[in-house]
Amino acid sequence: MRRPVIAGNWKCHTRLESARALAAGLRERVDALDGIEKVVCPPFVYLSAVREALAASSIRLGSQDVHWEDDVAATGEVGPQMVAELADYAVIGHSERRHQFGETDEMVNRKVKAALAAGLKPIMCVGETLEERQADLTEQVLMRQTRSGLAGVELPDGFIIAYEPVWAIGTGTPATGEDAASASAAIRQEVAAMFGPDKAETIRILYGGSVTPENIAEFMSQANIDGALVGGASLRVDAFSSIVEEAARVKAGAR
Ligand code: PGA
Repeated sequence: MRRPVIAGNWKCHTRLESARALAAGLRERVDALDGIEKVVCPPFVYLSAVREALAASSIRLGSQDVHWEDDVAATGEVGPQMVAELADYAVIGHSERRHQFGETDEMVNRKVKAALAAGLKPIMCVGETLEERQADLTEQVLMRQTRSGLAGVELPDGFIIAYEPVWAIGTGTPATGEDAASASAAIRQEVAAMFGPDKAETIRILYGGSVTPENIAEFMSQANIDGALVGGASLRVDAFSSIVEEAARVKAGAR
């Protein structure tokens, strides 16, 4: 049985005090909830403060990105060993990194390898743009991003891939449960082709893009979807906690 994961991506939001307050609020609401991995990904500069706010809780910490090397001249970057001192997870290849900052499949691959070597759990993001979807290229894009992102990787059981259609991110227009499930199936199939069906059965595939407390059940009730990567709704204690609670409830019912 794959352990479900709900991860909150705070993006370039919060300030020191609001980051602390958000973490403290979540701790109060969902710390005791088990059977599901809960992860928050604050901006790098607040990792330490949020780590303190979540000390000895069941909520884990992730970074929103990670460089592929430590101890190099790479101004502005944060290396995997640095992140691993504070966090357990690292979002890699988010579409905002790919499309606003020119991150390539090859860079994603280097980051995934470096994160794993440093003991981090990558949350590798893949997803098609609206143009690619309209040109019927969704599966092709997902296959390419999955194949390049995982090339030469020694894949641990439970590895996390987030399927995030670019057109659904921050738009209030989520994919349908059915579309997200078929995209997830294509990703799992590609992992099976690369690493074998047994390994592919262990990997966790999250859906991301306009997830809310109202629509999370539609995604969690799909057998191929093991959780969610949440942006906007992860900035509110009530909304993110409700998503976590609802996700745990649906997956517990499916067992
Ligand atoms: P959203 O963002 O939930 O605000 O659509 C999701 C993401 O970018 O991870």
